[in-house]
Amino acid sequence: MREPCPVIAVIGASGAVGTEALSILSDRGYPPGSVRCFGSARSAGSVAPFGAHRLAIENLDALPKTDADYALLCADTETAHSVRDRLRGTPTVIIDNSSAFRMDEDVPLVIPEINSDLISHETSVIANPNCSTIMMLCAIEPIRRAYEINGVSVTTYQAVSGAGRRGIQELHSQTRAFLEGESITPEVFPHACAFNVFEHESELDPVSGYNGEELKMIRETRKIWNCPTFPLLPTCVRVPVERTHAQSIIIEIAERANIEDIRRCYANSSLRLSEPGHALTPREITGTDNVAIGRIRVDHTSDAMRVVLWACCDQIRKGAALNAIQIMETVEALNRDVVYI
Ligand SMILES: NC(=O)c1ccc[n+]([C@@H]2O[C@H](COP(=O)([O-])OP(=O)(O)OC[C@H]3O[C@@H](n4cnc5c(N)ncnc54)[C@H](OP(=O)(O)O)[C@@H]3O)[C@@H](O)[C@H]2O)c1
Repeated sequence: MREPCPVIAVIGASGAVGTEALSILSDRGYPPGSVRCFGSARSAGSVAPFGAHRLAIENLDALPKTDADYALLCADTETAHSVRDRLRGTPTVIIDNSSAFRMDEDVPLVIPEINSDLISHETSVIANPNCSTIMMLCAIEPIRRAYEINGVSVTTYQAVSGAGRRGIQELHSQTRAFLEGESITPEVFPHACAFNVFEHESELDPVSGYNGEELKMIRETRKIWNCPTFPLLPTCVRVPVERTHAQSIIIEIAERANIEDIRRCYANSSLRLSEPGHALTPREITGTDNVAIGRIRVDHTSDAMRVVLWACCDQIRKGAALNAIQIMETVEALNRDVVYI
């Protein structure tokens, strides 16, 4: 690691993604003195865990006074815009978890395993893709390196923590209320999230019929794959799981393959491939770094040119905080000529 260690501002340190980012930074050996935590007036003055340490959360208004090398933005789109405006012209590199800049032409949308080559010395803002996009594209990448892909259909089973710490609190409180026979009033989600399943709560586009999460997956995949008309058909669904998304992914490939061919694609990848017969669940993947692949099928009614994957991913880690930190370390390696292990 560079000496002195880069200064990292974690903005939104009290939230689900910010808390995870602090935990990952601590695990990766960043010293507490190199990390500063920021939040709104709601969390300013409180502390955030950083390994064995506690870091004070400062009001975001103090940000211009820090000399942060990196701003890891783990807040909403409005905060992201205001931070970018305030840091414009400074050397701070912004890595944003929100959707504020993802589709901006001049902002690279990066999954390091796929397109880290988009990061250059001049990059000042880098966007982290949506968690469902990161997960799906990581799951497909080993196959994409071996086969031409003609289309993808995906159904997501998304944990409530995708809506932040309030989503987790709502699942807990509704579960208790249901079991005790009390009535509930949904606040974070439009429907009861305990003992229930519903289409993703993002706004429905009246023209296409897709919800916002599905449109993000389509647009972000096309941008990352640099394929403006790629046929992706997503259906995004919320399930009563606290953390870790699952997906059923159907991939149309341009030539025939069997299950062993597909398993071989994963042999040299960082993805976790389950043993045949193992029923992969979100629970076992929670807290892990890599997207995990469970059951693999090849559909013979498609002349063996359709592959079906079951995948799980801790969306707060690889789908958000970890991907952002991997981006930061890619920039750091590029700018400072250091090697991370
Ligand atoms: N959760 C996921 O699985 C996931 C996955 C991928 C991407 N993301 C994206 O990551 C971002 C953070 O999500 P999250 O799940 O961590 O949400 P969260 O749990 O609701 O946390 C939001 C954080 O933003 C801070 N914040 C809100 N308004 C602020 C302001 N005006 N100034 C400074 N800080 C402010 C909050 O601080 P206070 O406590 O002070 O309000 C809190 O720390 C969002 O853009 C989300 O879409 C989330």
